[in-house]
Amino acid sequence: MAELVATLASTHHPFYFKATTAPPEQQMPQAPEWKRKIEAYRETLTRAQPDILVMIGSDHFHQLFLDNCPQFLIGKAPQYDATFYNEEREFGLPKYMLQGDEDMSRFVHQSLMNQNFDLAFSNELKIDHSIVCPIITMRPQNDLPVVPIYTNIFAPPLHSPRRFYDLGRAIRRAIEAYPSSKKVAAIGTGHLSLELGGPRQFMDTGPDPVFDRQAIEWLRAGDVDAILENVTHESMENSGNATHGFLNFILMLGVAGPQSADYVDSFDLFHTMEAYFTWYPKGQVA
Ligand SMILES: [Fe+2]
Repeated sequence: MAELVATLASTHHPFYFKATTAPPEQQMPQAPEWKRKIEAYRETLTRAQPDILVMIGSDHFHQLFLDNCPQFLIGKAPQYDATFYNEEREFGLPKYMLQGDEDMSRFVHQSLMNQNFDLAFSNELKIDHSIVCPIITMRPQNDLPVVPIYTNIFAPPLHSPRRFYDLGRAIRRAIEAYPSSKKVAAIGTGHLSLELGGPRQFMDTGPDPVFDRQAIEWLRAGDVDAILENVTHESMENSGNATHGFLNFILMLGVAGPQSADYVDSFDLFHTMEAYFTWYPKGQVA
């Protein structure tokens, strides 16, 4: 059976690429430290020597709209065109072509259906920066096939934090049941407290630094009970209008299981708190 060798959960920041590749005299003062942190974090994936990446992200209204909006969706394509025009224009992100793994996508899809998760699927998915950003930061050589899974964190009604956690558990089981000798890493990105376009956007800190500190501590400890007790749709809304991206962190804790993280780092980037977690498996899924 396939082996899960690492689970990574982090924020994704579309300006990382631009901030760290601009000529030195044009870089923001935090760029060198940001780059050092990302490269140290990348090493936690490299060390695990994965063969396939299961990548969890969320389409930012690039191709999934309100006319037909799935809660959860899996890509099943042989390859994925990545980066939309506005992401090139606004963030300076490069275009990518990601290799898919149709066989593993098919298996994971069936396994999740068997576990009562009715995922939508797409044979023609185009990938946006929720997955392009972690490719840039974690695997810039883009040499591994991916199985992309999208979650709806933007268009209410959203699934509950518990449902996100349970999906993470189900993804873990699907990976470990996949009949293959491949090593799999699961990588997901989301947000801590975040405000997009609202009155709390681009402040000196993220919109809710108290939540950010608490959330990092919960994830460090793998304390899913505290998360599910305290984090609701309403509490996330109170922490910033895009804080629902924290649901993807909850999903990734589901993949990792309720265990403390093996690697934790964060970076207070004035208007947002960046955070980076890696778990290495310590046992089978209960
Ligand atoms: Fe984003």
